[in-house]
Parts: sequence; C-alpha cells; structure tokens
Amino acid sequence: MGEVRLGVIGCGGMCKAHLRTIGAKSPNISEPLRPFAEKITIYGLADVNLQKAEGHRQEFGGEYITDDPERIFTDPKIDAVLITTWHDTHARFSLRAMECGKHVLIEKPMAMTERECDDIVALAERSGVKYMVAFRCRFAKGAQAVRQEFPKPDNIIAHARTTGIWREGGWAQDPIKGGGQILSQGCHVVDMMFYLAGAEPESVYATGGVFHHSRPEVIDTINAAVRYKNGSVGAFLGGDGGTGGLMAGHPLNNGCPFFVMVVDKGRSAIAIDHGENCHFESAVPEAVWKKPYEAGNFSIDLGGGRASGVSDILPTFAQCILNGEPVPTTAFDGARTTRFILKCFESARTGKVIRF
Ligand SMILES: NC(=O)c1ccc[n+]([C@@H]2O[C@H](COP(=O)([O-])OP(=O)(O)OC[C@H]3O[C@@H](n4cnc5c(N)ncnc54)[C@H](O)[C@@H]3O)[C@@H](O)[C@H]2O)c1
Repeated sequence: MGEVRLGVIGCGGMCKAHLRTIGAKSPNISEPLRPFAEKITIYGLADVNLQKAEGHRQEFGGEYITDDPERIFTDPKIDAVLITTWHDTHARFSLRAMECGKHVLIEKPMAMTERECDDIVALAERSGVKYMVAFRCRFAKGAQAVRQEFPKPDNIIAHARTTGIWREGGWAQDPIKGGGQILSQGCHVVDMMFYLAGAEPESVYATGGVFHHSRPEVIDTINAAVRYKNGSVGAFLGGDGGTGGLMAGHPLNNGCPFFVMVVDKGRSAIAIDHGENCHFESAVPEAVWKKPYEAGNFSIDLGGGRASGVSDILPTFAQCILNGEPVPTTAFDGARTTRFILKCFESARTGKVIRF
C-alpha cells in the first residue's frame, strides 16, 4: 500500500474535523479504515488567511503553507486535495484540481449552479481521478442501518428545519459565498433523503419563500412534494427560523431536527441526528417481518463521534485512492442534491411542477 500526500485548501473548522483523522489518531475511525488513515500525510496547506493555514500546519503537519491554491494544484508531490472553503469556490477549485490530475475530496454542497454540476460530473468521468463529496449522513450508523433494512421504501419524508435563524452577516447566508441555509445545510438531509430513497427524482412541487431574512434571492423556507422515478413519493421540509427545539426529548434523543423517515407497507423507520441514530416501528406481524432492533442508539452505544461517521470520510477517500475502488459519494450524488434544491427554489418561485 502506498500513501496519499494531501493538499488542503480552506483551513477552517470543518477542515480540522477531517484532518483529526490523519495518522489514525482519532478514536472515532471505524476499525477497517484505520490502516488507510495511517497512510495520509499533509503536504501543503492553503488559505487566504495565512495565520489559519499556519495554525493547521502546526497542529496537523505539512511542508508549507500558501495563500495561493494554485501552488497546491500544480505541486507534483501532491496526490489529492481536500477542499473545505466557502461554497463559491467549490466548483472552480474542483475543476482545477481534476485538470491537474489530483484526486478530490470536497465538502458539501459540491456546487452552486446546474452548469457547475454538469461541468464537474463530466470532468470527474473524463479525468479518471477519484472525486468524492463529503456528505456525512451516508457515513452515519443510523442512516446505514435504515438503508439496510429498507432498500426500497415507498414514502420518504425529510426534515431539515433548524433551531433559530441563521446570522444575516455570516458567509453561509451570503447568496454568493454560501447560498443560504437550505443549500448550505439542508443539502445534508437532501442527500440522506436520496440515499434512503434509493431512487432518482422525477418531479418536485414546492411552496416557500423568504420569511426570516432580508435578501430576497436567498429562499429560507421550502415545503416540497417529491415524486421518484421508481414510483415512490415523499416530502422535503427545509429552512431555518426555528422548529428544531420542538423536536427535543423523547423519542428524538438530542433534538436534532435533521431526519429522514421512511415507510414501507406497514413498516417505518427514522434516521435522526444527521443519521447518527435510528428508530424502527412495524404494524406487520412479527412472523412476516422480524425487527432488527427497536432503535439504533448508536450515539449512546458507540459515542457521538463514532456514530456520526464524520471520522470515516477522509480515511474512506484514502482507501478508494489506494485500492482503486469507486468512491461511495460521487459527483453525480453532489449534482443531484444541488439540482434538487435549485428545482425546489424554481418551483416555489414559479408555482410550477418541475421535472428532472
Ligand atoms: N459536514 C459538516 O457537518 C459541515 C459542517 C460545517 C461546515 N461544512 C462545510 O465545510 C466547508 C467549510 O466550512 P467551515 O465551517 O469550515 O468554514 P470556515 O470559515 O471555518 O473555513 C473556511 C476556510 O476557507 C478559507 N477560504 C475561503 N475562501 C478561500 C479561497 N478562495 N482560497 C483559500 N481559502 C479560502 C477561509 O479563509 C476559511 O479559513 C463548507 O463547504 C461547509 O459547508 C460541513
């Protein structure tokens, strides 16, 4: 097994969460992935804020820092790039990294526009590099348990309404740098919704608008009805402006308002807390369907860090590079999620059913 020499672009909070797994120092990495975490070394770190890059270099290692991402893209010693910048740079940096032959692990959302989605999917296919989107819910233990038990649900209900109102002046609420709460954070749940649906969307009809914020171009509330190509149906409710606290307490352990519920002919399950935990219910006699468990309280059994699966993302990326395996979260997955949210916005603005 070789090694993965990593270039890092965007030395902020989420970058840190990924870099903690390097050298398999984090106790939260799943056992089979630990050898791959040991094979990652940081080579160069870039940030427009050099102090932040230096802080990460001192904490996690690396040969140099730079404020110019181009130095990372063109460094022949670098095999792969972790991109954890603000969203307006994701597509540009993804395309440049792939042009330079680097494997890419990109934080969500992969892209901001349909054109960017098309360009990234096309280049990821053409270039032959590994292009992986860090959709954390797919790595979460509860979501994985629900998917295993419900491979083809007939109804999929997704909820991503956060507690409180997102800060107006923050970068993620900026229409260019972040795209707002639904694109920025709701994308986690939209991806989990498709992961659990196991099907492509056929059409969406959404109502929504701007109810809590000052920028008319950043929709902060969406209520969408979804039809899937395999005949399943579902809903997606996304936005900020409160409601998260209402979910606190039994049966949702820590009140995280991010969940996807699936229903399948008398049986149902819910993946909650970014997919960390899950609950099952059945109206079907035990003779017909044996419950795997009443609930998967993975954050209690394994600890939240391990149950969330976040620490498995970078080691999985290294595994795919070193073993030549396909990545579990592709450019196609990233594009599907961005496209779906943009089509929800289009439907809310026009009042029309939008087809995919
Ligand atoms: N998976 C999760 O649970 C999760 C949680 C938080 C953030 N994120 C994602 O991680 C990414 C980063 O978010 P964050 O919260 O770490 O933000 P952050 O502001 O803490 O870090 C981003 C860093 O990128 C740098 N940067 C911005 N533009 C740059 C450019 N053009 N060139 C070089 N550096 C640049 C900034 O200076 C900053 O240091 C976003 O895509 C965000 O959506 C994911």
